[in-house]
Amino acid sequence: MDPVRMERRQILRFISAVILLTSPLLTSTLENGLARTPPMGWLAWERFRCNTDCVNDPDNCISERLFMQMADLLVSEGYAAAGYEYINVDDCWLAKTRDASGRLQADPERFPSGMKALGNYIHSKGLKFGIYEDYGNYTCAGYPGILGYLELDANTFAEWNVDYVKLDGCYSHPVDMDRGYPEFGYYLNRTGRPMLYSCSWPVYQIYSGIEPNYTSIKSSCNIWRNFDDIQDSWQSVQTIIDYYGENQDAIVPHAGPGHWNDPDMLIVGNFGLSYEQSKSQFALWAIWASPLLMSVDLRTIKPDYKAIIQNRKIIAVNQDILGIQGRRIYKDRGIEIWARPITPVVRSDFSYAIVFLNRRTDGTPSEVSVINRELGLTHEAGYIVEDLYTNKDYGILTPDDKITVDVNPSGCVMLRFTVASAFQKTRLPQNHIFGLSSNINQDHRQLPQRLQWLARFPNIARSLEGADQLKKREVSE
Ligand code: GLA
Repeated sequence: MDPVRMERRQILRFISAVILLTSPLLTSTLENGLARTPPMGWLAWERFRCNTDCVNDPDNCISERLFMQMADLLVSEGYAAAGYEYINVDDCWLAKTRDASGRLQADPERFPSGMKALGNYIHSKGLKFGIYEDYGNYTCAGYPGILGYLELDANTFAEWNVDYVKLDGCYSHPVDMDRGYPEFGYYLNRTGRPMLYSCSWPVYQIYSGIEPNYTSIKSSCNIWRNFDDIQDSWQSVQTIIDYYGENQDAIVPHAGPGHWNDPDMLIVGNFGLSYEQSKSQFALWAIWASPLLMSVDLRTIKPDYKAIIQNRKIIAVNQDILGIQGRRIYKDRGIEIWARPITPVVRSDFSYAIVFLNRRTDGTPSEVSVINRELGLTHEAGYIVEDLYTNKDYGILTPDDKITVDVNPSGCVMLRFTVASAFQKTRLPQNHIFGLSSNINQDHRQLPQRLQWLARFPNIARSLEGADQLKKREVSE
């Protein structure tokens, strides 16, 4: 045998072996076509946790009954009509062991009909079925994880007609996630059933000092967590607001149709947030193009809170088809301004959703005034401006007009600035794009970082000296 040909054959053999071994990675890019806008639904964890005591607490334990009730209410109480479609099981649904053939199985006492039947019930309501698992040996609450069973478990979920898989990362090594999460995504895709893939991959890496590779993450996952678990408090929501503000350069560019940053569940309607704080959480989750996953007891939620999470105008901002995640464009003395470019777009001028957030704790509302141009609102024909919570109509404002809002402590004012057409000063249809020129995902980064600020706070001298004193007082308090 010709030694040169022999060598070539060995090389070819080596290359095919490499291709075979790495094939899941080579073909793992996300091909499921899901989450073109941020997913909306209901998720058990924050509100119902790992309550497995169906004997003493049958109404609140993690059981098929709970999910069926929530599915019923999602439809009968108008959430489904507003866009909420997923009913998502979280941790603690599993039996402590796999079945004799190694397949995952639900806890037989709490899910006596099994997960396929639960999925069927959810589907019969016109909704979608989400499930929870973990990339490690165990879930965070200690139930069987998928490590060693990736292909089998992906196939099992497809057989159960699952539409959404949240894959947590307890009991696994964050370094392995760069390989493991895409690999499971590959097996999910290979089932042929579109299943939205929610990953906790970046958050576990960030917490162990690894910089997440978002290019890889967004090519495998539809949504991903990058910060701590939300808890039932304004304090917890504020830590998320700070994380999203301080890390916006690293995370905002990765959001877009099919792939979203996930700041965790909505806790509106639970015990920890006031009415004002609830409005703030919902407004910011809309600005961030975040998944809207309510974790609340839909049997007992009060009407005011239900109205917040069913606010159609704010949901429309969240679901805007451009899918551009908004940014914090101003932060000073407890006042923040957040802006998100949305449709309609005229030439290269976006419409905007703007949130004025007041994190101050002095008891009176803060008045905030700003010239529209300073917010980056430079469309010469002006904007049709309205308040998305009160429906107050500000009429058409030009870039040089001043907007003044009163923002309640720990509350917000959310305005929509819809570009007015130069020819017909009437409302343009939402989701409309006229003559858009350049790369739309780039333009919003041009917003001024530091606005010329015209805020007036109660009880505070307006001079610079006064502002300095205020800062000192806040620090020493
Ligand atoms: C982790 C996740 C939570 C929840 C719990 C369940 O903490 O981040 O969202 O799923 O596990 O144990």
